[in-house]
Amino acid sequence: MIKGLIFDLDGVIVSTEQHHYLAWKVIADKLGVVFTSKENELLKGINRRDSLLKILELGNLTLDEDKISDLLLEKNKIYLNSIAFLDKGSILLGVENLLQTAKENNFLLAIGSSSRNAKFILDKLELSSYFDAIVDGSMVKKLKPDPQVFLMAAKMIYLSPNQCIVFEDAISGVKAAQRGGFRVYGVGNPNLNSYVDDYIENLDEFDLKLL
Ligand code: BG6
Ligand code: MG
Repeated sequence: MIKGLIFDLDGVIVSTEQHHYLAWKVIADKLGVVFTSKENELLKGINRRDSLLKILELGNLTLDEDKISDLLLEKNKIYLNSIAFLDKGSILLGVENLLQTAKENNFLLAIGSSSRNAKFILDKLELSSYFDAIVDGSMVKKLKPDPQVFLMAAKMIYLSPNQCIVFEDAISGVKAAQRGGFRVYGVGNPNLNSYVDDYIENLDEFDLKLL
């Protein structure tokens, strides 16, 4: 029986996936690496450092550690500037209603995100208090597609993977959830259709009553 809902953050709760993409595009352009929304699919869901390494791989480039650190800082600066005006209006369709209804029906709620900015963003959106556990990119050693982030989230709400549903917009996140033994819903990214049995355009399409 499903007792817990675990949400990815960027692209599921809030429309920040586009901001990540545009910030990486600035870095990729600077490095002379061709980077479109197609290449960005490879980056969705994975952590900051691994994202940069993917861009370098795409461009057949190698950089020393100092340069890598500089670029990671620069990307995060660009990203944080671009989300400075993020507020409740940036919450994706159906999110608040689902969180509210799930709470009223005693479901346990968690976030499983690769982002080190997850807590900051949830505070900005005034959503933090809905969640019984928030696992972000700073709390685990292995990030998506490894299942650690979701396994930790499930553990923190005292549930096993088969008692939870994961909501994800990224291929890496879908793989992480599947490897962890979770049932996973793909959200808002048609590229996920061949990876998931359950797909919804947004959380408004998800009906708790069907569980
Ligand atoms: C994930 C996003 O949630 O977090 C990725 O899908 C992003 O696009 C990753 O790179 C790391 O985020 P941050 O905020 O720690 O740079
Ligand atoms: Mg995501």
